[in-house]
Amino acid sequence: MTAHIIDGNALSQKLRADVTGRATALKAKGITPGLAVLLVGDNPASQVYVRNKVKACHDCGLHSVLEKHPESLSEAALLERIAALNLDPSIHGILVQLPLPQHIDAQKVIEAIAPAKDVDGFHIASAGALMTGMPGFWPCTPYGCMKMLESIGYDLKGKHAVVLGRSNIVGKPMALMLLQKNATVTICHSATPDLKAMTLQADVIVAAVGKRNLLTADMVKPGAVVLDVGMNRNEEGKLCGDVDYADVAQIAGYITPVPGGVGPMTITMLLVNTLEAAERL
Ligand code: GUN
Repeated sequence: MTAHIIDGNALSQKLRADVTGRATALKAKGITPGLAVLLVGDNPASQVYVRNKVKACHDCGLHSVLEKHPESLSEAALLERIAALNLDPSIHGILVQLPLPQHIDAQKVIEAIAPAKDVDGFHIASAGALMTGMPGFWPCTPYGCMKMLESIGYDLKGKHAVVLGRSNIVGKPMALMLLQKNATVTICHSATPDLKAMTLQADVIVAAVGKRNLLTADMVKPGAVVLDVGMNRNEEGKLCGDVDYADVAQIAGYITPVPGGVGPMTITMLLVNTLEAAERL
């Protein structure tokens, strides 16, 4: 059996067309959804990410501002910028690209963002809202994974979902979203003694560790849905995920490729959150 591929580019295109339409409707009412992206320093990967985020906004008719600050920017100065953006009516979403330089306390910076503009969903108010099922912004990567499951009409009720990884950005919010849809959820991490024993029981596996070939075909139940959040490079420098794609695709029922899977969905959900931040006004 060969798995069905869940195409993140195709799904993104569909969702981004919807964002564009809703943004046009808002603009007719005099509101242009606006995103501020703050980059501190010159991390090359971060530079690519923020450029892609700003371009995606532009493509969907959203207003975006990219603020590039030098590595030497003080924490106080960054907090001041966020305070100003919190009050700026043309800005509905604020994103501070991570990682930040060592001398800046990232958590303190995230907590300075007004929860109503926290389109990354990293503020503790957003995390608390997700945990309690209250309205709030969901972190974009796990939110994108949920949209991928929705796109194949997958009903999580009564299913066993295994999440590999427990980061605040992906693993933990992913588990809460799956739980909210009535899955039975197991979170595995670096101290889990027998990963294979867990993944073999899974109807859905989300791999979000950042380790190439972490999930191999012998660890997957036939027909399972496999979502690959990993972003790694192989020996030739080619982008690859956490899943041994070629072999797992022979066993799984559905699988997301890397690239072209979860990656594009992350930016798409940022656009959705920014649009919704403007719609909520
Ligand atoms: N760095 C890597 N991924 C992300 C993300 O989703 N949001 C932000 N703000 N920084 C990141």
